[in-house]
Amino acid sequence: MQTQTTLGFNTKVVGSTNDYSKTAGSDVVVITSGIPRKPGMTREELIGINAGIVKSVAESLLQHSPKAIFVIVSNPMDTMTYLAYKSLGLPKNRIIGMGGTLDSSRFKTYLSLALDKPANDIQGMVIGGHGDTTMIPLTRLASYNGVPVSQFLSEEALAKVSADTMVGGATLTALLGTSAWYAPGASVAYLVDSILNDQKKLIPCSVYVEGEYGQDDICIGVPCIIGKNGVEKIVDINLNDAEKALFSKSADAVRSMNDALKTVLQ
Ligand code: LAC
Repeated sequence: MQTQTTLGFNTKVVGSTNDYSKTAGSDVVVITSGIPRKPGMTREELIGINAGIVKSVAESLLQHSPKAIFVIVSNPMDTMTYLAYKSLGLPKNRIIGMGGTLDSSRFKTYLSLALDKPANDIQGMVIGGHGDTTMIPLTRLASYNGVPVSQFLSEEALAKVSADTMVGGATLTALLGTSAWYAPGASVAYLVDSILNDQKKLIPCSVYVEGEYGQDDICIGVPCIIGKNGVEKIVDINLNDAEKALFSKSADAVRSMNDALKTVLQ
């Protein structure tokens, strides 16, 4: 709040409360609760403890904000999004996992560094799971102002961009000693802006799939139109065979993680 007059906004921030009634009537709620990962940990190692926390936070929020759209950030994010979907009983358009937004911003950053071009001239998406080994940076479809990046970067350079993107979170965790928060926070703001201002941006998000991309009964990153109703559409893009194979492998890994939720979901 102390930056308001410097940055030119007028927003009342209410913080420092554990009282859910203070959140009553929210249009959007963002859940980041849970323990963060420490250097050397994977997101997946957090599942046991974070599942209990996320379920109770999500249920308490829903009691006070029955119409809210839920954005899930807690890790392992795809698993926690699935947990929120299964435990809250809300329509799938109101449960959005924030992973692909962040992973895509990291992807575009590493592409801009490899190309030595401004990041805002780069387009690209990361789909699949939000895990160091399950993310799928779509290098074939990434572009520098509409020109495929493969015209400027070798296969080796693109493979390095993908690898750096996939461990983008782990890189920051090693530097910070705890989970990254600047880029995740900025990505949440980007996503929430598309909801509240009904921007209908195309953003890869983790959502419950029912046949889309050949998958069922998991939450996984797919390109979505994000507007005032949350996930307004899952956009089917034509993946090639190699990308389809990666997506199916990623989905298998995401699905097997959900098995760990059985006791929490009973
Ligand atoms: C990251 C965490 C927030 O990727 O999942 O930085």
